[in-house]
Amino acid sequence: MVAKRKIAVFASGYGSNFEAIARAAQSGEIPAEVVLLVCDKKSARACDIANELGIESFIFTAKEYNSKQEYESAIVEQCKARGVEMICLAGYMRIVGKVLLERYAERIINIHPSLLPSFKGAHAIQDAVDYGVKIFGATTHFVDETLDGGRIIDQGAIVYEGNDIEELTNLIHKIEHNLYVKTINKLINKKF
Ligand code: GAR
Repeated sequence: MVAKRKIAVFASGYGSNFEAIARAAQSGEIPAEVVLLVCDKKSARACDIANELGIESFIFTAKEYNSKQEYESAIVEQCKARGVEMICLAGYMRIVGKVLLERYAERIINIHPSLLPSFKGAHAIQDAVDYGVKIFGATTHFVDETLDGGRIIDQGAIVYEGNDIEELTNLIHKIEHNLYVKTINKLINKKF
């Protein structure tokens, strides 16, 4: 039997991508185990999901540390203790710094709700709507030290010409959940 790859998911909010990854791992859809949730907001729904699914979490408050380097060192310790091999950012609203990038070079990936390199940042869907875009989508990519930057792995797209942002957001989230599971499978099968 192939050993399951150990994954940590980082989130800051609702956690629907975290949940999709964790459920895919638990159902065997991906040969992986989500061993840790890292979250920078105590009140995030993602933390409740971790409890519900029996996944350990490391919840931290950035301003209680002197620097990014310091809280990222604490995160690396948590990851090391659980043998984490790959990190999936899923709505983690922080730029990843050197400490994590050096320890997990080429093993940190992110998902973003736009067809990158267009519409980086925290309001990608609204920004695309405001620009008059008709083809929307989501992107998975390797993470570097820039906002939503790094080599693209996969994309999923949808044509939407309506004007209901909530409906559009739900459609994009659905794309994201499938895309993230597909990307993780792809990376694991290349034996990262
Ligand atoms: C997702 O749409 C994700 O792509 C986005 O945050 C949302 C988190 O939703 N990430 C970014 O915008 C990164 N720049 P979730 O908490 O329900 O997974």
